[in-house]
This record gives sequence, structure tokens and C-alpha cells, in this order.
Amino acid sequence: MIRFFYIALAVISTATLTQCNSTEYPSGKRYYDAYCGNCHMGDGKGLSKLIPSLEKSQYLIHQQDELPCIIRNGIKSTVADSSAEVQLSMPAHPKLSEIEILNICNYVNHSWGNQQVQLNLEDIKDKLKLCN
Ligand code: HEC
Repeated sequence: MIRFFYIALAVISTATLTQCNSTEYPSGKRYYDAYCGNCHMGDGKGLSKLIPSLEKSQYLIHQQDELPCIIRNGIKSTVADSSAEVQLSMPAHPKLSEIEILNICNYVNHSWGNQQVQLNLEDIKDKLKLCN
């Protein structure tokens, strides 16, 4: 009976550990789910033309330096649809701390096929100084 208990315990703890390790950036995932996931979705795929997908993102490859700025200050642009011009707008998140922005950047940069270098707090501070 006791042996069964230990086996059950081992199975449960392995399952829990595997769940925790599903991302290397669990706190980034938590902030992403709270502040970004409603629009960009839990799987990063966004919403057709209205919300860009972050999966294998060209933006993250070519405009990586701007990521902390758009998280803090938001971003707006106009895209032409077949019938009309559509205004896209991502809200600012002025209350997020530099550490929270760092966690979100690292999570997004290492999810859904994105493979960017890991950022540290100094990187985020430097990039935030360059915001328009
Ligand atoms: C209210 C919906 C909304 C929320 C919340 C939101 N975004 Fe966005 N995001 C957008 C829209 C819309 C755009 C496109 C804006 C544009 O192109 O001007 C965008 C653009 C982006 C881009 C550029 C992608 C590209 O291909 O151009 C990135 C990266 C991004 N968001 C990451 C995030 C992160 C990280 C968060 C959480 C801190 C977040 N977004 C929160 C709606 C949102």
C-alpha cells in the first residue's frame, strides 16, 4: 500500500513538473496572459488582419529593438482592407515595470517558433531610452 502511495506521488510530481516546465519563462507567460493574450491570443496567433500574429514573427526578427517601447507606449497604424482603411491600435501599458516588460519580451521571444536572444534588464532599460 505504501509502495503504491510512493508510485502515485512520483507520477503526480512528474506531471506537475512537466506542466511547470512547459515554458522557460513562466512569469512572462503570466503577464502575457494578463496583458496581451486577450488580443494576440494564448497561442500567439492574433486575430486575422486585426491583430497581428506573433507566431514566427518577422517583427520580432527585424524590429526587436522596438518591442519594449511598443509594450510600454502602444502602437497605431492604418492598413488598407479591400473595402476601407482600418485603424489598428495596440494600447499602451504604462504601469508595467521594466522587469515585467523584460519577462514578457523573453516569453514572446521564445514562444511560437520565435528564437531571439535572451534579454536582460539592462537591455530593456537601453531599449526604453530609445522610445519615440
Ligand atoms: C487591445 C488589443 C491588444 C493588446 C492588449 C496587445 N496588443 Fe499587441 N498589437 C495589437 C494590434 C492591433 C497591433 C497592430 C498595431 C499596428 O500595427 O499598428 C499589435 C502589434 C503588436 C506587435 C507587432 C506585431 C507586428 O507584426 O507588427 C507586437 C510584437 C505586439 N503587439 C506585442 C504585444 C504584447 C507583448 C502585448 C502585451 C503587453 C500586446 N501586444 C498587447 C493589439 C493588442
